[in-house]
Amino acid sequence: MKVAKSRSMVVAGVMSGTSADGINVALVRIAEAPDARSSSASAAGSRGRGRPPSTIKLLGHAEFPYPRRVRRAILEAMNAESAAVANLARLNFLLGELYADAVLRAQQQFRLKAQLVGCHGQTLYHQGEARLFLERKVASTWQTGEAALVAARVGVPVVSDFRPADLAAGGKGAPLVPYLDYLLFQDPKIGRIVQNIGGIANLTAIPAGASADGVVAFDTGPGNMVIDAVTEKLFGRPFDREGKIAASGMVLVPVVKQLLQHKFFRAKPPKTAGREEFGRDFVLEFLNLCQGFRKEDAVATATALTTRSISEAVRKFVMGKEGSKKFGEMILSGGGVRNSTLVGMLGEALKPAGIRLRLSDEFGLPSEAKEAVAFALLAYETWNRRPSNVPAATGAKRAAVLGKISYA
Ligand SMILES: Nc1ncnc2c1ncn2[C@@H]1O[C@H](COP(=O)(O)OP(=O)(O)O)[C@@H](O)[C@H]1O
Ligand SMILES: [Mg+2]
Repeated sequence: MKVAKSRSMVVAGVMSGTSADGINVALVRIAEAPDARSSSASAAGSRGRGRPPSTIKLLGHAEFPYPRRVRRAILEAMNAESAAVANLARLNFLLGELYADAVLRAQQQFRLKAQLVGCHGQTLYHQGEARLFLERKVASTWQTGEAALVAARVGVPVVSDFRPADLAAGGKGAPLVPYLDYLLFQDPKIGRIVQNIGGIANLTAIPAGASADGVVAFDTGPGNMVIDAVTEKLFGRPFDREGKIAASGMVLVPVVKQLLQHKFFRAKPPKTAGREEFGRDFVLEFLNLCQGFRKEDAVATATALTTRSISEAVRKFVMGKEGSKKFGEMILSGGGVRNSTLVGMLGEALKPAGIRLRLSDEFGLPSEAKEAVAFALLAYETWNRRPSNVPAATGAKRAAVLGKISYA
């Protein structure tokens, strides 16, 4: 394929999700189609300069866990009713330093140099729905991690703060990954559900042969967030490695059933979730319901809550009335893929619907790298002044160019 050199770029995507486990850096080569007709990307139209990309090649991926105390500080800031402004300001710059460290180390590791960085930042607060505040209805979102620092230290422009532009366009600011999902996984014959299991779990459903307008995407609820919190509380470990604890417990079915009655699970998409829904308060309620049972049972139950909330969401909001819409595959990504008990339960839950599980790794995209790749792509689109929200996914009234640019 002939691709003009100037249209090909190495972009570093930097992601740190709601699990606050650490930083994922993906170094990605992105190139544009030589002519518009050969491009499969029409997710947000092509109103900007050039054409949407046709080649997205992962060159390297590296993961940098947050130091323990940094993770704790982030989780505290996320859950805080009140926080010291000075510490939030410091956290912003500290994270900027850590993101810059991560990009520089990844570049060194793979002997590559990024020409552009897309840095998602660490979400401290997300409220996609407008609510009354000081007598005015506002939605809000806040990703921290100072991009100016990253630009200065890496020496290339950085696109950051992707979500506010979608909020400003009337969307919920999330999910943004469907732009990548559509580009990579749409298929003329197979209906696919692309399911990420990070702290929160979210899906992008792409019916066979659908255009980007036909995509349905939303957060299904907790991914690892509740499992992590329960494991931490009861076993003093940050997560249930390989799902071993859950495997040794029994699922408390009535508890799962009761929790699935929560407003969030019943609400129709588009919808987004975060620690506001499934953080500390939810976990307290969860642990209360599990009182008197074995600790292992609580972890197994948290795992089942994730898988049941996914399979229920698929049944209620994706497959249509009486399963009229056919989906053959679910493509998994995110850290939850390493929890084999979770993946096993999910496979069972989806079997009746005839949906087969696959891993994004089978498509050349390591499960844990996908979201970082997505933010490399979104940065590239912004750099070319093209929109990259998927209005069908976020509920936005229009396509929007996402993010802000910090120049080196
Ligand atoms: N080996 C493992 N076994 C079980 N769970 C794991 C393993 N590795 C990672 N995880 C889970 O994946 C989570 C991180 O997933 P990730 O996709 O990075 O989420 P986020 O996007 O929210 O940061 C961890 O908090 C943990 O729950
Ligand atoms: Mg993570």
